[in-house]
Amino acid sequence: MEWWQKKSVYQIYPKSFLDTTGNGVGDLRGVIKKLDYVKSLGAGAIWLTPIYISPMIDNGYDIADYTAIDPRFGTLEDFDELIREAKSRGIRIVMDLVYNHTSDKHAWFIESKSSRDNPKADWYIWRDDKTNWRSIFGGSAWQWCEERQQYYLHTFAKEQPDLNWENPDVRRALYDATNFWLDRGVGGFRIDAIVYIKKPRKFIDGAIDSEDGMSSIHNMTAATDGILDFLREFKREVFDGCDIFTVAEANGVHPENLSDWVGERGVFDMLFEFSHVNIMFNRGVEIWHRAQLYKLSEWKKTLTDSQLATRESWYPIYFENHDRPRSIDTFFPSGTDKILAAKALAIILFTLRGTPFIYQGEELGFGNAEFKSVDDYDDISTRGNYNLARADGLSDKQAMKFVRKFSRDNARTPMQWDSSENAGFTSGEAWLPVHEDFKICNVEIEERDDNSVLNFYRRLSALRNSNEVLISGDYEELYPNDEELYIFTRTLGAKKFMAAINFTTHNVDLPAQILDGAKKIIGNYADEKNYLRPTEAAIYEF
Ligand code: NOJ
Repeated sequence: MEWWQKKSVYQIYPKSFLDTTGNGVGDLRGVIKKLDYVKSLGAGAIWLTPIYISPMIDNGYDIADYTAIDPRFGTLEDFDELIREAKSRGIRIVMDLVYNHTSDKHAWFIESKSSRDNPKADWYIWRDDKTNWRSIFGGSAWQWCEERQQYYLHTFAKEQPDLNWENPDVRRALYDATNFWLDRGVGGFRIDAIVYIKKPRKFIDGAIDSEDGMSSIHNMTAATDGILDFLREFKREVFDGCDIFTVAEANGVHPENLSDWVGERGVFDMLFEFSHVNIMFNRGVEIWHRAQLYKLSEWKKTLTDSQLATRESWYPIYFENHDRPRSIDTFFPSGTDKILAAKALAIILFTLRGTPFIYQGEELGFGNAEFKSVDDYDDISTRGNYNLARADGLSDKQAMKFVRKFSRDNARTPMQWDSSENAGFTSGEAWLPVHEDFKICNVEIEERDDNSVLNFYRRLSALRNSNEVLISGDYEELYPNDEELYIFTRTLGAKKFMAAINFTTHNVDLPAQILDGAKKIIGNYADEKNYLRPTEAAIYEF
């Protein structure tokens, strides 16, 4: 077992974690200050979302310099200190690589757009004609450039032009940037939006139009044939032989294809696929007002499929990140008790086979924010989805219902440290409003409460970190067609654990004899019955 398989990863969105300068934006010194907190959760690594120089059109996923820290977050010296301080606590720092696109303020793009024959003319994707592809944040995926009298492609915002991976010089420059961080001692990389780096041949040879209106670029370009050749080269040239882990974000790779991407035959150590978090969206295209209902059995199947597909490799278990709404409002019916729900999801997070990824604040157990108007949201995709809903005929009230449910800003509100103004996040004005519940749900209060979600996370983390069966044991789902309960076991030799979760808001009988020989070791209700109460979840040992 590798070090990154034995402990969880804690994801930090630095902009919203802890501000030590009073400018309303979190920073690296804030992360250094809270390393003991992260350690108390039993994490072995911290994944930092991008901290590079950026105009922040997409909160750092629009990078203007791959090897410099944005002054908002601190300096390279702060970063080196973070690596050292984290290491002394047994924590490694994981950087986010955003290599499908740069910012339009990156020197490479500025040169590329300046003429059709400059040395970087071919570093981005330029064409005379455009197709009707819709970018992921809404609107055309093509942007006209006056200087070059051509269109450039942007899978995401128009300020995020796509790099041309067909050009070997581009790939070399990206490998060099990666080595820069490896040389500083990082523990791994989360690799952004990697499925889009290869554009389909049809597209390279000549622009195609889809039949009607705008057509999602995701459906045209995700995981195109030949992409794995690029990624194998990336692995060979940069990652092979390094004591790090790689985890790629790959919307559009489905469990049945995981073995091409991870493990012995694959290119990454782990892959974030989206089937369980995007189950309400058709084909991974997140058009919020077209979200569909799904059955529990379908959701469980996504988890089981990815568990089985990674039997010989490894899986990153996650319910939240900076792109998702808060999980307790996503995976449980309305009316569910939030504390019970948070603990129930935590039980799944720490008992499936793979590395648990905890997103900052998830361990406190609060739901989505209730901002009033679309103007209160900062996130570019929130505005894109809102506009799409309005263009589709929804009223402001109807569109806002989906914004509140799915906005990425739900996960980006400042970390709730205590009950003081701005939840102890900043002494200035927070860049995004603090969640309205911060006075009842914050680290200071939860540290003192033995029954809090935070302390439940700590106990579960300690349980997983010290039980080989929870780390490497085989996964088996029981009763997959049950629409109320999720039950699975983890087995290693003679040792067996079972997790059982009631996804409803009423009592549900457990299958007969299932608890024979079982001893409950932890659960979100203190005592034990032979049925599961609303949202009850427990782990049993046999
Ligand atoms: C995925 C990132 O997680 C998200 O925050 C970002 O907007 C897009 N990729 C574009 O980089």
